[in-house]
Amino acid sequence: MTEEPKLESDATVGRVSLVGAGPGDPELITVRGMRALSAADAVVHDFMVHPALLDCARADAQIICAGKHAGHHTLEQEAINALLVALARGGKTVCRLKGGDPFVFGRGGEEALALAEAGIPFEVVPGVSSAVAVPAYAGIPVTHRGLARSCHVITGHGMPDDAAWPVPPQKDGTLLFLMGLKRLDSIAARLIAEGWPAETPAAAISHGTLPGQKTVVGTLADIAARVAAAELESPTVLVVGAVVALRASLAWHETKGTASGDAGDTERGTGPSD
Ligand SMILES: C[S@@+](CC[C@H](N)C(=O)[O-])C[C@H]1O[C@@H](n2cnc3c(N)ncnc32)[C@H](O)[C@@H]1O
Repeated sequence: MTEEPKLESDATVGRVSLVGAGPGDPELITVRGMRALSAADAVVHDFMVHPALLDCARADAQIICAGKHAGHHTLEQEAINALLVALARGGKTVCRLKGGDPFVFGRGGEEALALAEAGIPFEVVPGVSSAVAVPAYAGIPVTHRGLARSCHVITGHGMPDDAAWPVPPQKDGTLLFLMGLKRLDSIAARLIAEGWPAETPAAAISHGTLPGQKTVVGTLADIAARVAAAELESPTVLVVGAVVALRASLAWHETKGTASGDAGDTERGTGPSD
């Protein structure tokens, strides 16, 4: 019997965990994500990651901020890919910590491809995406029997220049726009032009799941003006669809801990469901 040829030892090569840090509240990371974070030799994180999570890294871990904050990139994507490969080739166990879920508008797929091409062992630890968690913290289920049979996660990045962005035709679904704060006006105008009724409920939620969460409710016709008046800041998720009306009964996060149920962080009386 011939022996299997011996593979070159890769004992010195580390591995990379692409970990979703969750939408904001540090307690919304997964158990597996926390395990990878607290075991890592090196943590490469985005701006969106809550600082309290970095305190969970080992005291001797190398902490590197890879940036990505409203157009400001500390490191370009190519450089981040190369950094992950270099750290792993140096034998490090790396936690690549990214906001929300790594594969939802997080460029985690590109990082995974770079690792795969370089032959670096990696795992993906999915995270709680802001696309569904932030509406949930505003009391808005993204689907609901009788109101929404589907939900669509759409990037607002690049609009309105990208006139070709596909508008879901289905009027009984929920649209979830990420990275759309600066383009609310054009997003709403486009939806109305494509046949979505101007009175369709809409909500914009900033700093979702965090103590400073703020929600503005209106309609497609006026959401951009209401958000501008409330001076909402990034990061913000825009929700469009009938499910927004459920917030009137379900706004649990912004009302918790207040005896009267008054929502200090909510723009009240400004829309159909507030
Ligand atoms: C580059 S994308 C990353 C999304 C992330 N991978 C995820 O799954 O949540 C960043 C966008 O996510 C949304 N976002 C992330 N965290 C948020 C939060 N705490 N509150 C509101 N929006 C948030 C905003 O639309 C922001 O512009």
